Amino acid sequence: MAKVIVMDHPLIQHKLSILRDENTGTNQFRGIVSEIAMLMIYDATRDLPLETVLVKTPIAVAECKKISGKTLAFVPILRAGLGMVDGAINLVPAAKIGHIGLYRDEETLQPVEYFCKLPKDIEHRDVFVLDPMLATGGSAIDAITQIKKRNPLSIKFLCIIAAPEGLKALQAAHPDVDIICAGLDSHLNENGYIVPGLGDAGDRIFGTK
Ligand code: PRP
Ligand code: URA
Repeated sequence: MAKVIVMDHPLIQHKLSILRDENTGTNQFRGIVSEIAMLMIYDATRDLPLETVLVKTPIAVAECKKISGKTLAFVPILRAGLGMVDGAINLVPAAKIGHIGLYRDEETLQPVEYFCKLPKDIEHRDVFVLDPMLATGGSAIDAITQIKKRNPLSIKFLCIIAAPEGLKALQAAHPDVDIICAGLDSHLNENGYIVPGLGDAGDRIFGTK
């Protein structure tokens, strides 16, 4: 079974509290989503393979380490996952970026797919799927199913807040995918929103409410 990691770093927890606050405006919300994504990527990439290279410093030749292989692809789930891309590519500028467009039908809560464009060489890459919210898990499960059809080296799912219901569903559907989140909340309400959560992530990032 895949790992579930709840990131308890004080910086992440502090920033998450600002995101949750209903008085946090769009500009600050967007900035903090990006910062949290960067901190999460920093930790989630700690097991990337390294290779030894020789580097000539002004003084001598040094045995150094570099990340080996084609490495990473980030795949945000539109819309809200887009808010995490800047932070991620700040740390890994060479990563390729795919996009999966999904929205939750408000009545059925089922994901509806409207876009999928992934890097051509994704089979040589470790993929990080980005979405701030894991609620029922439907969107994440669907996105990962699409990505798996292209046989990437590995997949990790990064979200800012997860609900227990979504975690359970995602682990059952994709037991090989590690899940990394900043907060694990209490439950979903009758409208499928995470409690206490932060509201509608897409609307808060893009100011559409
Ligand atoms: C939100 C969120 C996830 C999804 C989570 O997107 O960004 O993609 O809901 O819910 P689930 O786990 O129950 O599938 P939403 O459907 O609101 O679309 P948006 O990002 O375009 O606003
Ligand atoms: N999507 C969101 O944006 N927020 C939730 O609480 C649940 C799904």
